[in-house]
Amino acid sequence: MVHLFKPIIKPVTVTLFGVIGVGTAFASSDCDEKLLTFEDWRDWQQITQKPVKSVGHSNNWVGIFVNELANETYRNAGALYPVCAKIVKPIYDDADGKSVRKLTIMVKMPDGFDAQNGNWWYATSDPSGSRVVPKRRRADCISCHEQAAKTDYLFSEDVLEAEGK
Ligand code: HEC
Repeated sequence: MVHLFKPIIKPVTVTLFGVIGVGTAFASSDCDEKLLTFEDWRDWQQITQKPVKSVGHSNNWVGIFVNELANETYRNAGALYPVCAKIVKPIYDDADGKSVRKLTIMVKMPDGFDAQNGNWWYATSDPSGSRVVPKRRRADCISCHEQAAKTDYLFSEDVLEAEGK
């Protein structure tokens, strides 16, 4: 199983300027795509207070959860995300958000992964976040997310606006 070699979480200090306090080893080992896990996504920072109607993902009810590394950048809808920033978007069955159908996922990878498209890794998963299927045809996701290139490929501006922030 992939989780055998899951690295120990190291303390990280985040500032507006990115990540300090950890060396480059952090980026390359913890963001190895074979080791990525998402089982704790429900404990992440929740951008959406309640399910919102998706614009890009087929008129579904969705939520947006960000890990600690992605939180500040998402809320400021601006600068480039630090490596290992993770965003999970649950697709709900309906507006009450109790039942999750699946997850769509983006993770910021180290430079060189896909520099032309902002080095984002795209995936989908079952609701638990454990059965992750990396998108082989990332181009499908990128073709739309590139519209948000000025906010590093995330539609944070639109989402924050819908949230009234
Ligand atoms: C037709 C356009 C479109 C396509 C194709 C698309 N997205 Fe999105 N995506 C959006 C929009 C617009 C949002 C903002 C929230 C919303 O409307 O659902 C979004 C939001 C997201 C988010 C939350 C982060 C954010 O940008 O706010 C994730 C994660 C995500 N998409 C993953 C994916 C993945 C993975 C794929 C490919 C399987 C994909 N998307 C394909 C338009 C698209």
